[in-house]
Amino acid sequence: MRCLSLKTELSWLIGTLMLLTLLINLSILIVHAGPRIRAEDDTSIHLARELVVTAIGSLQETDDPLPALNRFYESLGKLRHVDVKVLSGNEEAAALPVEASSKSQSSVPGWFVDLVHAAPRKLIVPVVIRGVRYGRIAIVSNPVDELEEIWSDVSWLALVSLLVTSMILGVVLLLVRKSLKPFEGLKRGLADLESGKSNVRIEQRGAAEFRAISAALNSLSETLDRIKTENRSLVDRLIRVQDNERKEIARDLHDEAGPCLFSIRAGVVALSELTNGPRPDFEKIRQNCASVNRASEVLQSLFRALLGRLAPRGLSEFGLREVLKGLINSWQVSRSDVTLALACPHDLSTLDELTALTAFRVVQESLTNIFRHAEADSAQVRVEFGVLPSSSTEQDFEGAPALLIEIEDNGVGIPDHPSLGLGLLGMKERVQALGGAISIGRRAGCGTRVAASLPLPKDEDDDE
Ligand SMILES: Nc1ncnc2c1ncn2[C@@H]1O[C@H](COP(=O)(O)OP(=O)(O)OP(=O)(O)O)[C@@H](O)[C@H]1O
Ligand SMILES: [Mg+2]
Repeated sequence: MRCLSLKTELSWLIGTLMLLTLLINLSILIVHAGPRIRAEDDTSIHLARELVVTAIGSLQETDDPLPALNRFYESLGKLRHVDVKVLSGNEEAAALPVEASSKSQSSVPGWFVDLVHAAPRKLIVPVVIRGVRYGRIAIVSNPVDELEEIWSDVSWLALVSLLVTSMILGVVLLLVRKSLKPFEGLKRGLADLESGKSNVRIEQRGAAEFRAISAALNSLSETLDRIKTENRSLVDRLIRVQDNERKEIARDLHDEAGPCLFSIRAGVVALSELTNGPRPDFEKIRQNCASVNRASEVLQSLFRALLGRLAPRGLSEFGLREVLKGLINSWQVSRSDVTLALACPHDLSTLDELTALTAFRVVQESLTNIFRHAEADSAQVRVEFGVLPSSSTEQDFEGAPALLIEIEDNGVGIPDHPSLGLGLLGMKERVQALGGAISIGRRAGCGTRVAASLPLPKDEDDDE
């Protein structure tokens, strides 16, 4: 039954219910049929007996009762509901074919007669006139009429019930079909959504429940469309940023590493020529060595800067606190107009690499934003062990150990609806990927506050 359609299930249910009702009605009719026939038989037999007794009584004064008796016997054949037979002196009443007669005379099927089980009644009335015995009259009830009546009732009831059941079934199926029509639209819409189609809209029609589901699906489809568009534009931006980054690295390598390498090579060639001569010019050799050394130093610092851009150096060797100090110092050298303060009360070297890198990226992007957008003259960075704040996470994790990161500046403050670049988005995604929480907003008074919390394994804050 479980894999049948709703229409088929309803048809089965209604059909079975109606059939049960019909069967119950028929059973009641059949159960009552026996007593009904018996009562009728009793009345008929009683009336016939009264008639016979009265007739015999009226002949008591007759000298020759035989002609009158024969006429009476003939008239008995016209009685309804009973069979009357005149038995001669030695004929047995039990030999009367009572059951067979009721079956053979009627159009009622034998199985129905057997089912009703209305055995005919018999009665023997002796014919005695003025002390002389003239035989016996056997009166046998004949329930054919009654049986036919009941059979006709049963047949009509079955026929009418079948017709009504079919009509009700037809009407219900029509109604079900009509009310389930919106399902087709919903099914199509869901299939379209599943296949990744955009701009899927479902017509809102039918019952209130279907309208509500269609509206919910439409809004789901709108949300999916919006997310798809946002994702597409983010991927575009990501690709552009990556391309720009690659171009910048290529330009740095070309413009700075290229001349250095050329200078080193030229210096080495000159040195080899100078040392190959019969009288080496030590002054020139010294000058060449110094120039090769300078070019190597420039190349080294260029590579350091490049590596620093690609991945923070020393995170696994020295820990997050030292790398943050290095980041702040390098900013302090290039942007002395902004005073930076770092508060890092705990030794963060036990942090796992991913948490440390995420924390570093949050601080790095926040500081970059401060120098690009905040117009601040001071900023504070605080990174420490603590517990997950209740507002930032699900209740189950409330109070769990966490790394807390806070960056504040006293600049113009982030707009209420900033145009999202990759920086804020990247920060949010990194933090959320670790199951943490981040809030970016205006600070009370002035400036901007970025606060992030990254969950830690239970024993991570043992060093506190
Ligand atoms: N500390 C801040 N003070 C004032 N405005 C800020 C600050 N940080 C971010 N903003 C605002 O938020 C916007 C989004 O910052 P986000 O870092 O996402 O992008 P971006 O810095 O403009 O570009 P990028 O993708 O290179 O990071 C910025 O354009 C800026 O208007
Ligand atoms: Mg930015």
